[in-house]
Amino acid sequence: MTALGGVVIRPFVVGDIPRVHEIETAVYETPWSTRVFDDELSAPGRSYLVAESAGQVVGFGGVMIISDEAHITTVAVDPEARGGGIGKRLMLRLVEEAVDGGAASLTLEVRVSNEAAKRLYARFGMAPVGLRKRYYRDEDALIMWVHDIDGDEYRERLNEMRSEL
Ligand SMILES: CC(C)(COP(=O)(O)OP(=O)(O)OC[C@H]1O[C@@H](n2cnc3c(N)ncnc32)[C@H](O)[C@@H]1OP(=O)(O)O)[C@@H](O)C(=O)NCCC(=O)NCCS
Repeated sequence: MTALGGVVIRPFVVGDIPRVHEIETAVYETPWSTRVFDDELSAPGRSYLVAESAGQVVGFGGVMIISDEAHITTVAVDPEARGGGIGKRLMLRLVEEAVDGGAASLTLEVRVSNEAAKRLYARFGMAPVGLRKRYYRDEDALIMWVHDIDGDEYRERLNEMRSEL
């Protein structure tokens, strides 16, 4: 468990699903069902986390690790809790989970129009490498990658981000 600036990042447990689903439905037009969250929490190679502030879950995220590649499956913050570093804290911990799980590279898909998320990911060294056409029902996805996340240079980058929070 990590406490940074009054925000606790901790493992996402089954009991968090109703609150996480509430955020999910407030954020996405085609939200994951509670069943999908339930399946993901018990799937192999997954690490799911929540951010808690004043006893309330205000964000969540997940990473899937397959061999030396990690894939961010989701990251979202309650609209009312945005802009205060919670997304960054969640990403930091997800990247740490990926490195600890043996990943050397990290990837994800993001809506081409999602400027906030693209900037968040860029802070973690993620760069666009291509498009997945119509990945979302109504929009293309930008594919982003960062490599060598298991190296000293990247570890230093994470340390710097941690110290800024
Ligand atoms: C993307 C998201 C998780 C960011 O959460 P957050 O708690 O507001 O983010 P933070 O306050 O930690 O900000 C982290 C960085 O994201 C970027 N960012 C966040 N909000 C931004 C905005 N409105 N415009 C531009 N950049 C933004 C910035 O680079 C920021 O770091 P900086 O201020 O040091 O430059 C949040 O906006 C969200 O839940 N969006 C909807 C769900 C979503 O799109 N998830 C990603 C799916 S791929």
